[in-house]
Amino acid sequence: MNNEINKERNKETQHPEFSLNLFSLDHRVALVTGAGVGLGRVFARALATARAKVVCADIDLNIAQETAQKITAAGGDALALQVDVSNEDSVARLMADINKHYGPLDILVNNAGIATPPLRLHEMPVADWDRLHSVNTRGVFLCTRAALPFMLPRKKGVIISIASIAGLGGVSPKTPAVAVNYSSSKAAVIGFTRQAAAEYGNDGIRFNAIAPGWHLGTQLGRETAPPSEQALHAFVAALNEATPLGRTGDPEELAGLLIYLASDASSFVTGQVIAHDGGWTAW
Ligand SMILES: NC(=O)c1ccc[n+]([C@@H]2O[C@H](COP(=O)([O-])OP(=O)(O)OC[C@H]3O[C@@H](n4cnc5c(N)ncnc54)[C@H](O)[C@@H]3O)[C@@H](O)[C@H]2O)c1
Repeated sequence: MNNEINKERNKETQHPEFSLNLFSLDHRVALVTGAGVGLGRVFARALATARAKVVCADIDLNIAQETAQKITAAGGDALALQVDVSNEDSVARLMADINKHYGPLDILVNNAGIATPPLRLHEMPVADWDRLHSVNTRGVFLCTRAALPFMLPRKKGVIISIASIAGLGGVSPKTPAVAVNYSSSKAAVIGFTRQAAAEYGNDGIRFNAIAPGWHLGTQLGRETAPPSEQALHAFVAALNEATPLGRTGDPEELAGLLIYLASDASSFVTGQVIAHDGGWTAW
């Protein structure tokens, strides 16, 4: 495309020169589902550090309140609310309460997710399949569906969904912590993100997904953690060996990527899935 046309187009989009202010979320309203512990708490605190008003929502109100208290104690602005992301009425109430308290939502982080015991497919109870998908896929659909009416009139919004490397490819049985219900739910989140990005780009709404690799120290899969200290060491050693950077991730390391995707620093990025995995998916 010739330079004159390019100049005209750049005028139309009117983007400021790069500065660190592009990462600021001042005056924006952000919702993190599953914000009570783990990655969700990291995301909520990071959004507050970037100056967003943060709604910390969780099925367990007590832990959502703990996250919100940590944010307000550090000088941020946060509100804790209860939600079951798999329940349509509960999600509708959440969105109405956010609108009442802070005004329309700008940023949705679809983080709430669960894992069931990593049983092999032929041994998996149907109930495990259904329960997991009701949170990991139906929950993403319900929250996004309820958030869009607050974003569409302003032609502005950011949706970030937390997928997984398990949604990008199979995980070796040498690290037997992943089951087909989990992988398929995360692949669904990736497909959802790409299709929604295509559908809503013209409405100014960006959709992206983060595919974390192994970030230990959260509650995910706690019921099925390796049975002994020795088994845990062997498991972590196998993870380290399968990762180019030679280690697992610290949940705090995800904060920078989330703020990049939530902010105007990524204004031309939509429909993408970014792995945060120490190179796990690189070989
Ligand atoms: N930790 C990792 O290494 C890792 C890797 C890949 C993907 N993920 C994904 O990241 C997200 C967060 O994982 P985590 O490791 O922090 O898990 P976690 O178990 O520590 O936290 C999940 C949070 O979601 C909440 N939650 C569960 N069901 C809910 C529901 N129905 N409604 C509302 N809240 C609900 C829980 O109460 C909890 O606070 C999940 O989607 C998970 O699949 C995590």
